[in-house]
Amino acid sequence: MRPEAEKLLRWYDAEHRRLPWRTHPSAYGTWVSETMLQQTRVETVIGYYLRFLDAFPDVAALARAEEAQVLKLWEGLGYYARACNLHRGARQVMTLYGGSLPRTSDELKTIHGIGPYTAAAIASIAFGEPVPAVDGNALRVISRLRGIRENVRAAAVAKLIDAEAAALVPPERPGDFNQAVMDLGARVCVPGTPDCDACPLRADCAALKAGIAEELPCVPKKKPPLTQQWTVALIRCGDRWLMRQRTESLLRGLWVFPMVEGRPEQSSLPDALERLTGLRVSPPSELGEARHVFTHRVWEMKLCAAQTEDSQPKEGWRFFTAEQLRALAVPTAMRGAVKALYQLADDR
Ligand code: ADE
Repeated sequence: MRPEAEKLLRWYDAEHRRLPWRTHPSAYGTWVSETMLQQTRVETVIGYYLRFLDAFPDVAALARAEEAQVLKLWEGLGYYARACNLHRGARQVMTLYGGSLPRTSDELKTIHGIGPYTAAAIASIAFGEPVPAVDGNALRVISRLRGIRENVRAAAVAKLIDAEAAALVPPERPGDFNQAVMDLGARVCVPGTPDCDACPLRADCAALKAGIAEELPCVPKKKPPLTQQWTVALIRCGDRWLMRQRTESLLRGLWVFPMVEGRPEQSSLPDALERLTGLRVSPPSELGEARHVFTHRVWEMKLCAAQTEDSQPKEGWRFFTAEQLRALAVPTAMRGAVKALYQLADDR
């Protein structure tokens, strides 16, 4: 075993975070946890992971579920395509592999939604395959350790980092090694100001030696997010409210209220809402503002409420009572609107 790997594993044995997916790592549990952990903090994932495994304890249970049920359990976690892919992947594992995940990273990559990182994480953690799982944390740790100053998003540089990581993975404990790199990246070798004094690899770190640890990894500046303005309408017919299940790639499968682009004048809003939903509505009243930040987009929303006597909307729209709405997967972006709806429903 390389001395760096040995030091890192010694640190991991003493310091690793006790996380539910680490206690008895199954391939399925690793698949679920690694999928949830993409772009999402460990603290946020823990509760979702436990509820998900409770509802769907194995691949067969997940494959049997309805997509709506899977999305409801994912509600608030974001990046909902991950949930749909996991669900589709589970059905694929049932038909192609009889319900057991394949044991190599190459085969795992053939399953819907499993990319190179997740395949390597499952293969190393659950099956002991000596492959590196390079996520954002690992990218930072390795680029600092080896003093790689080039743009880590460039394909050739990413390949170099992968090769450096592969050379370090010890065949005896590949899963622990990969998770040790993740923990180091999350707790010590953090973005911006790493805690180099606490690092088990400080004597080996090229970036520390060169005094550039804080500057690495080199990533090009992100484009600023696109800000969009919306007018979101709570449209009531009796005790039911109008919603639509999104088909757009952003938030596909989740339920939202009618949204008109921009900030139309109050007087033209009924016409705009009629074009959208097919329903004639009363002049809307204003409820307030809400804002939601996605990765590449910001929604600035003006909330309003209106009534309709017409219960036959255009195709794609459906009415729900406040009680029925509780069972739907609604994105966090609509949280302010949902809160306002419950208040209006209670006030009656
Ligand atoms: N981030 C991604 N995968 C992880 C894991 N297995 N443990 C902790 N953090 C992670």
